[in-house]
Amino acid sequence: MNIVVLGLQWGDEGKGKAIDYLAGNFDVIVRYQGGHNAGHTVYHGDRKVILHLLPSGIFSPSTVSVIASSVVINPIHLVSEINGILALGVGLDKLVISELAPLILPFHQQLDIVFEESRYLKIGTTKRGIGPAYEDLAGRRAVFMRDLVDENDFYHQVKPLSEYYNKIIQACGGAPVLIESYLDDYLAAGRFLKPYVRNTIYLLNRLHEERKSFLFEGAQGALLDISLGTYPFVTSSHPTVGGVLIGTGLSHKAIGKVIGISKAYATRVGEGPFPTELKDATGDRLREKGDEYGSTTGRPRRVGWLDMVALKYALMVNGVDSIFLTKLDVLDDLDEIRVAVAYELDGAQTEIFESHHNRLQKVRPVYRAFPGWKKATSGIKRENDLPKETRDYLRFIEESTRVPIEYISIGSGRDQTIRRNSE
Ligand code: GDP
Ligand code: IMO
Ligand code: MG
Repeated sequence: MNIVVLGLQWGDEGKGKAIDYLAGNFDVIVRYQGGHNAGHTVYHGDRKVILHLLPSGIFSPSTVSVIASSVVINPIHLVSEINGILALGVGLDKLVISELAPLILPFHQQLDIVFEESRYLKIGTTKRGIGPAYEDLAGRRAVFMRDLVDENDFYHQVKPLSEYYNKIIQACGGAPVLIESYLDDYLAAGRFLKPYVRNTIYLLNRLHEERKSFLFEGAQGALLDISLGTYPFVTSSHPTVGGVLIGTGLSHKAIGKVIGISKAYATRVGEGPFPTELKDATGDRLREKGDEYGSTTGRPRRVGWLDMVALKYALMVNGVDSIFLTKLDVLDDLDEIRVAVAYELDGAQTEIFESHHNRLQKVRPVYRAFPGWKKATSGIKRENDLPKETRDYLRFIEESTRVPIEYISIGSGRDQTIRRNSE
């Protein structure tokens, strides 16, 4: 059965770990949106590898890894990521890159930086040019991977765009981007990537007709979705399930099951509303135990309690079939664990997730407290060996969401995963 694996929170839920755990069973793994703003941590043997653009199944030799057409690509970054993987002795002959993937160009990154520094509402982006590259797609002036590999045309396409954007960059006090100084590096990257570049829409549909099995890898998370997330503190793509269809050119018939990844608590990087945020010693403790520092930017992640209002919203808009709950072990030492079960807004209780920032920033969480289990869970292999308080916490999440927790993750290792009801 084809599955979508996507984040249910604000990213960094442990999608890389979950996908690496699940990947061996699939013929094709597809990244369908986002760019190198993503940072997915996987282990190759004992070696920690953070993947930004390459699909998390890249280490599985028989799997076709596809970067589909709604992923925005910085070609220089992609070449260096590929070289990093080749240097580990891993073959990449099954990698395919969409010819219709929009490019991140040097002025996109500069625009991202200039906007972040000048706008009245700071988003806290990864400053990698993601938003401006998607803006060009929506603005119908994007330059695509196939324009880069067709060298003759590339300069003529990017030159007028860079002149246009340099006016804006300079008006905002930024240094203009001299596109000519990047040209050789971009063209060299294009030559390097050319053997991987294909029409992925037809390729994926043919593989689907041949009944190959697919795993669709989401980047970011539902609450960062441009349309369904905590706007404007979002990314510029669709991490939610709808993004799979637009991002790949496959139809809804290609989706069999949706697995949603959630931490047993919550984190967020960058600005924006976070109703259950902890700004106290408990938050610091979770950040340290959970090693909550951004995989892409190294920024400390904001930390808070699990938010059932937000979780139920993310489960609803994605039609999630089962949950992969991660980082349960990070809660091991706590005396008490809290969960937001509702919000208070304008003097009334609500379970509606008001995704837009102007409403969400006003809510106050209503908490339910659970006793901590105060035992180490990382080495546990079977569900029945988990402490009773842990199982109570899991049962509460299942009963209140009415979505089964199919996998429990109690450490970053592949074997630190308990598949429920598999004994
Ligand atoms: P992604 O962006 O969703 O792939 O997540 P990241 O890789 O950015 O961040 C998740 C971090 O948590 C990584 O360092 C993982 O190795 C780690 N991790 C994943 N699952 C678990 C878990 O169950 N317990 C612990 N302690 N760490 C985990
Ligand atoms: P993975 O795939 C966590 C956040 C940024 C910022 C907002 C917009 O590893 O889960 P952008 O650079 O995309 O324009 O930034 O989105 N963000 C992420 N946060 N995990 C990610 O990816 C993220 N990708 C973007 O911090 O708040
Ligand atoms: Mg990440």
